[in-house]
Amino acid sequence: MNAKPDFLRQRKVAVLGGASGIGRAVAHLAAEQGAEVFVLGRSEAEAGPWRYLPADITDAESLKRAFEAIGHIDHLVVTAGARVGSPKLDELSLAALSQTFEVKLFGSLIAAQQALPYLAADGSITFTSGLLSRKYGPGGLLKSTVNAALEAAAKNLAKELAPRRVNVVSPGVVDTELWGEADAAGRLAAMARIGAGLPVGRVGRPDELAEAYLFAMGNGYLTGAVLDVDGGGLL
Ligand SMILES: NC(=O)c1ccc[n+]([C@@H]2O[C@H](COP(=O)([O-])OP(=O)(O)OC[C@H]3O[C@@H](n4cnc5c(N)ncnc54)[C@H](OP(=O)(O)O)[C@@H]3O)[C@@H](O)[C@H]2O)c1
Repeated sequence: MNAKPDFLRQRKVAVLGGASGIGRAVAHLAAEQGAEVFVLGRSEAEAGPWRYLPADITDAESLKRAFEAIGHIDHLVVTAGARVGSPKLDELSLAALSQTFEVKLFGSLIAAQQALPYLAADGSITFTSGLLSRKYGPGGLLKSTVNAALEAAAKNLAKELAPRRVNVVSPGVVDTELWGEADAAGRLAAMARIGAGLPVGRVGRPDELAEAYLFAMGNGYLTGAVLDVDGGGLL
């Protein structure tokens, strides 16, 4: 992990999408490392070592209010993402396309734009894509296109917003609420089946992903990078 323990002490970290899953694990780990953490989202699923601020990633005004309330941001992490199906071309609707891109691509960019006036010059933004950005197959259209576009946008912003650093974490399959309720039979079965097909023999845990976000925040030489944390799923 990070070579400098407590590197987040007295730093402000905003996690948009931090109410559950990977974002919540980032919020916990950043708080453990001494950061003042702000969890932004449409709802506060549970209390934690952070301050919750309501924000919808599709609503620029709500983002502006939340970032204004924080006042100064050292690191912005965006993990918000809608639950997206896997329609093939003949099943694809404009509504599904719009919702997917509105949240993950347009939302991430509007969030970065609204945070920018408050973002420290030595700060960072870390977005979240997903392994299908570079892995292709029937039913992957929505996820591949939106995640590939987000990775391209982040690389562009790494140059445009320099010296601020901009990176992406690309998760493989991670056992989170995205897959359903914690002990739902469908989620357990999917995790076991998918995990068995991965080189590491299991799916990922949110805390394993959180370490990648903290690495992206803490490593001053890392920008324009996509960190694949996927148990070998891209291979
Ligand atoms: N878990 C995986 O296997 C996996 C694999 C590849 C990529 N990813 C990506 O990783 C990211 C995090 O996923 P996760 O597994 O942690 O899923 P998750 O637990 O469902 O977290 C997604 C978060 O996004 C929030 N969100 C959704 N729409 C929002 C909106 N309009 N405004 C603000 N917040 C919104 C959700 O909260 P509310 O709905 O309560 O607002 C939720 O807290 C997503 O971008 C996902 O696509 C995950």
